[in-house]
Amino acid sequence: MMEYTKQIKLYSGKAKTVYTTNDSKLLILHFRDDTSAFDGGKTEQFSKKGEINNKFNAFIMEKLDQVGIPTHFEKLIGPQESLVKNLEMLPIECVVRNIATGSLCRRLGVQDGEDLEPPIFEFFLKNDTLHDPMINEYHIETFGWATKNQVEQMKIYTFRVNDFLKKLFLDAGLLLVDYKLEFGDYQGQLILGDEFTPDGCRLWDIETRKKLDKDRFRHGLGGLIEAYEEVARRIGTLL
Ligand code: ATP
Ligand code: TYD
Repeated sequence: MMEYTKQIKLYSGKAKTVYTTNDSKLLILHFRDDTSAFDGGKTEQFSKKGEINNKFNAFIMEKLDQVGIPTHFEKLIGPQESLVKNLEMLPIECVVRNIATGSLCRRLGVQDGEDLEPPIFEFFLKNDTLHDPMINEYHIETFGWATKNQVEQMKIYTFRVNDFLKKLFLDAGLLLVDYKLEFGDYQGQLILGDEFTPDGCRLWDIETRKKLDKDRFRHGLGGLIEAYEEVARRIGTLL
């Protein structure tokens, strides 16, 4: 069996480091313990976070693959490391919101906690210098950030993820409030990349509406790791 080894550090983002491997079609994602919010304005390290997120992401990606959403995930190769397909990432973030909170409330003055029916879909441009501004399909087409087909496909996959994960989390007593997905191209095919973890989504306890995601860090609520572990335990990724 092929052994995959890290070669060159390609990119070190806010929470993950990406390495090339001895196979040019594959990368290693290293989930670090770093947590950042507010465009890197607030950062902290939490012991075990990388490991929890790596496992959590693997669990979710495998499930998504099974329901017809092609993902970059290949396999877990270490406590904080996963082998993934080397995608040409699109500079776009796809956000779906089932319940109003966060930037939506700040932007539109709507009530925090309001159910959104139908759910809201938003595109953001992945650009730290510009603070990830919200964009629409016209911006994407005119500036060539993705093709029309890719835009359609991203919407289809992102809503399919919503249908599937809303139920998965509900069965674990959790509300999937909102989340962000990123996609990339792999040999002409649109593939889900990056991660799905409590760093990039919001999950609330269904009874108490307690926040069990990165908002604990954003708002200085404490208990971040305990919250991530609780979510992982409830969906069965932590023994
Ligand atoms: P953000 O927090 O906005 O996602 P970031 O770049 O700081 O930004 P990290 O998660 O720390 O995020 O870094 C991971 C980087 O690796 C991201 O830029 C992501 O787009 C990229 N990436 C993730 N999966 C793949 C993949 N399969 N192929 C190529 N690049 C990938
Ligand atoms: P949003 O409410 O727009 O952001 P904020 O954190 O500023 O209130 O975020 C919606 C969801 O998408 C939330 O679960 C976090 C996730 N997200 C990211 O993880 N990264 C991003 O760059 C964006 C725009 C959203």
